[in-house]
Amino acid sequence: VKISLVGGSGGCGSGFAMRWAAKHEIIIGSRSSEKAEASAKRISGCLFEQGVNAHVIGTDNQSAIEEGDIIVLTVPSKFVYAVTDHLKDCYTDQIVISPIVPMCRSDYFNYRPPLEGCSALQVERLLPSTVKMITAFHTISYAALQDLDKILKSDVIICGDDNESKDLVADLVREIKTLRPLDGGPLSASCQVEALTPLLLNIARLNNISNAGIQIVEGA
Ligand SMILES: NC(=O)c1ccc[n+]([C@@H]2O[C@H](COP(=O)([O-])OP(=O)(O)OC[C@H]3O[C@@H](n4cnc5c(N)ncnc54)[C@H](OP(=O)(O)O)[C@@H]3O)[C@@H](O)[C@H]2O)c1
Repeated sequence: VKISLVGGSGGCGSGFAMRWAAKHEIIIGSRSSEKAEASAKRISGCLFEQGVNAHVIGTDNQSAIEEGDIIVLTVPSKFVYAVTDHLKDCYTDQIVISPIVPMCRSDYFNYRPPLEGCSALQVERLLPSTVKMITAFHTISYAALQDLDKILKSDVIICGDDNESKDLVADLVREIKTLRPLDGGPLSASCQVEALTPLLLNIARLNNISNAGIQIVEGA
């Protein structure tokens, strides 16, 4: 599968590239193709040192979207409009994964959804209706993703309205050992998951926990 990471030069993008490049073709997108190429080179180098012969390339966001089968929007919420509005026509029927969490921070992290109710619905409104919008990975820290030695024990809650796309994203989750995908319901339920991230960050900070994640336990 060709996985394109819009704004993939950042923390999350690099993390996904590190985790998926052994099996998939990774296209790092950026506003600057030079920055994306440098990022792709750095990630390929890191993976090569760990014995992984990966196929990672860097290009501009537009080409990344046009070439990808799966697009992951790895940009902060405040830049979503900037990387979707003028690039709408580059989308066809790809799966679009959004891990985006709109939040703000004063002395405490707070969930700050857009007018649509959550980031997922805002992105859905900005993109053509032919794409399959899925949300996932809101509660996975980029630092943990980037460290291949780290065994991730969290659950990843997936929301979306297309079951086939959700299954495909669940497979991508399972490829990152040992994350467990869980169905969180329709796309409109994404607000419930997005709001978990500021909670996790506050708990992590107040209780001195690094890379806090969530796990749903049975019979608690
Ligand atoms: N950080 C985490 O641990 C974490 C965990 C779960 C979910 N998330 C979500 O994942 C998303 C990405 O997080 P991140 O930490 O990877 O973000 P980031 O590193 O701060 O930024 C990602 C990329 O956004 C692009 N960008 C910056 N300013 C821009 C602008 N004005 N217009 C367009 N693009 C711009 C940059 O790419 P170029 O300069 O190359 O264009 C940058 O590399 C966020 O929405 C966050 O809520 C993050």
